[in-house]
Amino acid sequence: MADMMWAGRFSKQVDETVNAFNSSIAFDGRMYRHDIQGSIAHATMLGDCGIIPKEDSIEIIGGLKKILADIDSGALELDPAAEDIHMFVEAELTKRLGDVGKRLHTARSRNDQVAVDLRLYLRDEIKEISELTAKLANTLISAAKEHTETVMPGYTHLQRAQPITFGHHLMAYVWMLLRDLDRLRDTARRMNYSPLGCGALAGTTYATNRKQTAELLGFTAPMANSLDGVSDRDYCIELNCALSLLMTHLSRLSEEIILWCSWEFKFVELDDAFATGSSIMPQKKNPDVTELIRGKTGRVNGDLVTLLTMMKGLPLAYNKDMQEDKEAIFDAVDNVKLCLKTFIPMLATMRVIKENMRNAAARGFINATDCADYLVKKGMPFRDAYKITGTLVALCIEKGLTLETLPLDEYKKMTDIFGKDVYEAINLDTCVNGRLSEGGPSPAAVREQIALAEEALKEYFA
Ligand code: ARG
Repeated sequence: MADMMWAGRFSKQVDETVNAFNSSIAFDGRMYRHDIQGSIAHATMLGDCGIIPKEDSIEIIGGLKKILADIDSGALELDPAAEDIHMFVEAELTKRLGDVGKRLHTARSRNDQVAVDLRLYLRDEIKEISELTAKLANTLISAAKEHTETVMPGYTHLQRAQPITFGHHLMAYVWMLLRDLDRLRDTARRMNYSPLGCGALAGTTYATNRKQTAELLGFTAPMANSLDGVSDRDYCIELNCALSLLMTHLSRLSEEIILWCSWEFKFVELDDAFATGSSIMPQKKNPDVTELIRGKTGRVNGDLVTLLTMMKGLPLAYNKDMQEDKEAIFDAVDNVKLCLKTFIPMLATMRVIKENMRNAAARGFINATDCADYLVKKGMPFRDAYKITGTLVALCIEKGLTLETLPLDEYKKMTDIFGKDVYEAINLDTCVNGRLSEGGPSPAAVREQIALAEEALKEYFA
């Protein structure tokens, strides 16, 4: 085994099992681009501040760029025996440049280095996840536009409650996604501060320029406290929180789609390309994608608990426990992207069975509130109207009728206020179209919120 870079203090080589146990390159190797990006900024600053000779800085930057190109092209493979990506890149640089390469780590520690890498890496991931989330919102808006007039039952307690439109239902999810986007943006803003130059924990004795490296890497400013700079993993936790909420929204919609695909509902039919069959039951068409999204939500929540638990007892500053941050947050990020990438085309190809939605809305006395409101609008106090309507519903159930098919004389037996126009008042379309209040299910109200949501989404499609 090759000597460790920190071998100076040790009289023995590290035990093989410890080496394997300690190594993180298997999972932090994916940050090679960001590690090199951070090192280039650091080397630039070292040269500009005269901490290392300018020629060395230039040579180091050239060497780092070549290493990046070689990893990108596959000409250079990451060494699985290396301790981590930071050590690997530095060792490779020294292998290529000799003594000059050894100057790169001046005025820096792996503790600030890993914190920079992870911030840079997650900043890119947030951008990609935000774009996918906006795309999903857009897919839902397109469907909502097609279904502003598609009447369906709205539920509370999963019992048919009041009539809504499918467009209205879909738009509810769009607003959740818009909040998710806002949270992602907020997380990105708060995490965009540079720990580079915090050193191991106590800064350095060199006259570094932390503002310069922060600027070169696109950070808002250097982190103000070196201990905080290397100890902070709030950004991982915050991001995972935002992702858990995003997954919660995907999971709730998934659950609804699973219900809607069942023969009991049959409101939608998934495209054959986005459903799977059973190995034994020939009739089956299973909504596996949505079930997996629902399942993976638990996994992303697990990642959040991993991070929170990992951090809660750590004294300042860096502790090796923190190496565990990456697998958790990478798992969360990877799975959210996978879910979004699969969900978007699945939704775009999903067939909506309008007749079944409408038929379901026509049964279950979904217009009972409207029947009561009819009496109220003719002067009756709401509580009395509510009671009369309840009695009528019970009568319908007994006779196997609906409010639409109950004869007028039965209405009139309850109160003379009822006239022929009650049938118009409880007509499904009247009930939906009349719900004009802001944010409501009427086609006009839904079109209004579609315009608002499209405005909010515009920046993601600029
Ligand atoms: N691989 C380490 C991590 O992911 C890098 C930082 C190591 N720092 C140290 N002092 N051992 O956290």
